[in-house]
Amino acid sequence: MKNLTADELREMYLKFFESKGHKIIPGASVVPENDPTVLFTTAGMHPLVPYLMGAMEHPAGTRLTDVQKCVRTGDIDEVGDAAHLTFFEMLGNWSLNDYFKREAISWSFEFLTTKLGFAPEQLNVTVFRGEGREGEEGYIPADEEAVEIWKSLGLPDERIFRLPREDNWWGPAGTTGPCGPDTEMFIDTGKEKCGPECRPGCHCGKYIEIWNDVFMQYNKNEEGKFVPLGRHNVDTGMGVERTICMMSGAPTVYDTEIFAPIMAKIDALSDPAVLAAVSAEEALKARRVIADHMRTATFILCDPKGSVKPGNVGANYVLRRLIRRAIRYSRVLGIAEGFTVELAETIAAKYSHVYPELTLNLENCRNDLAQEEKRFNATLDKGEAMYKKVAEQLKAHGQNQISGKTAFKLYDTFGFPIELTLEMAAKDGLNVDKVGFEEANRKHQELSRTTSAGSFKAGLQDNSEVVTRLHTATHLLHAALHQVLGPTANQKGSNITAERLRFDFAWPQKMTDAQKEAVEKLVNEWIEQGIEVTKKMTTVEEAKNEGAMALFGAKYGDQVSLYSIGDVSKEICCGPHVANTKELGSFKIKKEEASSAGVRRIKAVIGNM
Ligand code: ALA
Repeated sequence: MKNLTADELREMYLKFFESKGHKIIPGASVVPENDPTVLFTTAGMHPLVPYLMGAMEHPAGTRLTDVQKCVRTGDIDEVGDAAHLTFFEMLGNWSLNDYFKREAISWSFEFLTTKLGFAPEQLNVTVFRGEGREGEEGYIPADEEAVEIWKSLGLPDERIFRLPREDNWWGPAGTTGPCGPDTEMFIDTGKEKCGPECRPGCHCGKYIEIWNDVFMQYNKNEEGKFVPLGRHNVDTGMGVERTICMMSGAPTVYDTEIFAPIMAKIDALSDPAVLAAVSAEEALKARRVIADHMRTATFILCDPKGSVKPGNVGANYVLRRLIRRAIRYSRVLGIAEGFTVELAETIAAKYSHVYPELTLNLENCRNDLAQEEKRFNATLDKGEAMYKKVAEQLKAHGQNQISGKTAFKLYDTFGFPIELTLEMAAKDGLNVDKVGFEEANRKHQELSRTTSAGSFKAGLQDNSEVVTRLHTATHLLHAALHQVLGPTANQKGSNITAERLRFDFAWPQKMTDAQKEAVEKLVNEWIEQGIEVTKKMTTVEEAKNEGAMALFGAKYGDQVSLYSIGDVSKEICCGPHVANTKELGSFKIKKEEASSAGVRRIKAVIGNM
């Protein structure tokens, strides 16, 4: 095994695939250009979906290779352990209906063993074991072809693992699109098995996945079915950080040359007096969280698209969470205000020769970070003051338990992290009803999370933001229909996926083109006006008196939430909604059709969908 730097690995990979007839293409922005189903580019395939689908030809040809900046925040709370990162670089090679399994697998094997120098004996692979029964609906055959190819390369059967779809299937990127079985390559670290069941895919750390070859030969359609795509694409992804980690023998990604300057900076900024009072374990987690989150935040803020800023909705919110989590952990190490900017500079220095945007956009990034840090520190100070009030009141009443509701209020309304409430309560000898807090939080989350059954693990959370936007678009559509068609065009049904909204309403005949255009125009005008969306709790009676729309026949509780979009729309609804109509971007009706007798159905999209 060679000990390469990330720079060397990127270069070696691209050159290798260039020698196999691939064109080196630049990676895309980390903020997706044309894909509103995700907030960030989570894999190399995202920017290439139209080409994988065969919707258009890629100008560089049918064999491509690149390095893609990826952000995956689905497992943000796991960050701090040895393996999870919210930002990583993915090396990829692509066949757009060109070569298929034999070439893809053989080249992966060749690169791993002859270029990177892994011993063939260290290699373990997984393949898709198939699902359903032949002749029946939903049948997808096992990938015996991949097994045969691995065997022909010398892999013995006991190092080829046949696993179900949850392990060996990739995509689609959103809820529909190209996808297929994959074969994943794992390096055996030589550690003891954690138990008899231990195998590639087990998280104990014995087997580390470094590469995935996906055979995109299916399309997942709107009904959730996998239908042959009629094309044989290859999408592969090799994680730079993990591969470097495996090659150097470093215990974790944070111990590699990639993170070395970032970790050194964090250590230099830490206060030894504060450090002396925290456990080694706590300090280690804090260092990792700060390093990971600041790296991700710096790449997002410096992204050429420049559209994501710390905020409360969608991608902006994810960015805010990353920065704030880093700030919170900086307090554990006694790091003084201003550190986010210093770390961004360190990160830019490490990467800007590969990603020039880290120099070009550094000034803006520094300003945004400084502002967010200042703002959050103020929030923390305010939250602390609120917490103190709560604690004093409890003590005055001889009580010693902070209710779940109060803890949630501190968190939700004042932005005061629950961990801080717990910490301060422990110091004051108070209990916190954690179960009650979780319960309140869960209820809140349920409201704001999609039930979308998408199988794209990393994208799920991101999808919920799209769904929220579509939800607000639905209210605007409903209001526009009332203005254009009249007050009888009432809602009969609504369904939202990450791709589109669907709205059924009472109307006896096909809408004319002029009516459709008028509706579309109204909604777009309201979006452009940037109207604020507000929510208040009230009774059904009062809401109806105010002229709110409510679903006829629906059962509501005593207190309902009433969402108002300026004076355009008022509806009783559980939410969630965006804060301002601007966030929808734009609105387009894709289809208007009959749903049932006297009911029409509109399918519509927002943004660049
Ligand atoms: N798209 C595949 C992955 O991200 C290669 O693992």
